[in-house]
Amino acid sequence: MYMVETRGLGKYYTFGSGNQVVALNDVNLAVASGEFVSIMGPSGSGKSTLLNIVGCLDKPSSGDVYIDDEKIDYGNAGSLVKLHRQTMGFVFQGFNLISTMNALENVWYPMYFNKIPKSERKERAEELLESVGLRDRALHLPSELSGGEQQRVSIARALANNPRLILADEPTGNIDSKTGGKIIDLMKKLNKEQGITFIVTTHDMVMANNADRVITITDGEIID
Ligand SMILES: Nc1ncnc2c1ncn2[C@@H]1O[C@H](COP(=O)(O)OP(=O)(O)OP(=O)(O)O)[C@@H](O)[C@H]1O
Ligand SMILES: [Mg+2]
Repeated sequence: MYMVETRGLGKYYTFGSGNQVVALNDVNLAVASGEFVSIMGPSGSGKSTLLNIVGCLDKPSSGDVYIDDEKIDYGNAGSLVKLHRQTMGFVFQGFNLISTMNALENVWYPMYFNKIPKSERKERAEELLESVGLRDRALHLPSELSGGEQQRVSIARALANNPRLILADEPTGNIDSKTGGKIIDLMKKLNKEQGITFIVTTHDMVMANNADRVITITDGEIID
C-alpha cells in the first residue's frame, strides 16, 4: 500500500491557436507512507504541476492518482474537500497566508472547516505555533513576520488538521539558507516523530540531502 501513487499521469496545456505544452508526461511515482521524498528539476520541468495535481489543486489531463490506494475522483468536489480536511496539508512557495489574519488565526482557520470547537481550535493552534517556535508571534500579522517565520506559520497551518501527507512546493525557496535549514529540520522532525509523509519540490541541495529519496524531473518526465 502506498500513500501516493501516480499512474501514467499527464498534463497538457493548449494555448494560442492549438499549441500544446506538455507539463507532465507519463509520470509513474509511488511514495510509501512515512517517506520523505524530494522532487528536483529545472524551472518549468513540471514540479509544481505534479504537486498541485497530487494535492488536488489541479486535475490531470490523463492518468490517475491514488491516495491510500484509492483513486482520486477529480470531478467529485466533495471527495477532494474531504482529502484536504482529513489527509493532506499544503505548503506553498509564496506562503499564501491570509494577510488580514494574525498567525494564530491563520493556523486555526483550516480547523474551522473540520467543525472543531472554537476553544479547541485556539488551543491546538497555539500548540502548533509553539511546535514551530512561534508562540510569541501568535498575534502578529503576516506583514509583521519575517519570511522564515511566515513559512513556519504556513507549516503550522498545514498541520492543523493532522494530515498524514504534507506537500510542500519549494518551502525554502524564498528564505535565506540559515532559515531554510531550520525549516528542513522542522520538516524532518515531523517526518521522523509523527511519521508524516513529505513530498517536497526544491532547488535546495540541503533539502535533497535530507530526503530519503530524490526524484528528478525534466521536461515533465521522471528521469531517475
Ligand atoms: N496555465 C498554463 N498554460 C500553459 N502552460 C503552462 C500553464 N501552467 C504551467 N505551464 C507550463 O507547464 C510547465 C511546467 O510548469 P511548472 O510550474 O510545473 O514548473 P516547475 O518545475 O514548478 O518550475 P519552477 O521551478 O520554475 O517553479 C512550464 O513549461 C509552464 O510554462
Ligand atoms: Mg514550481
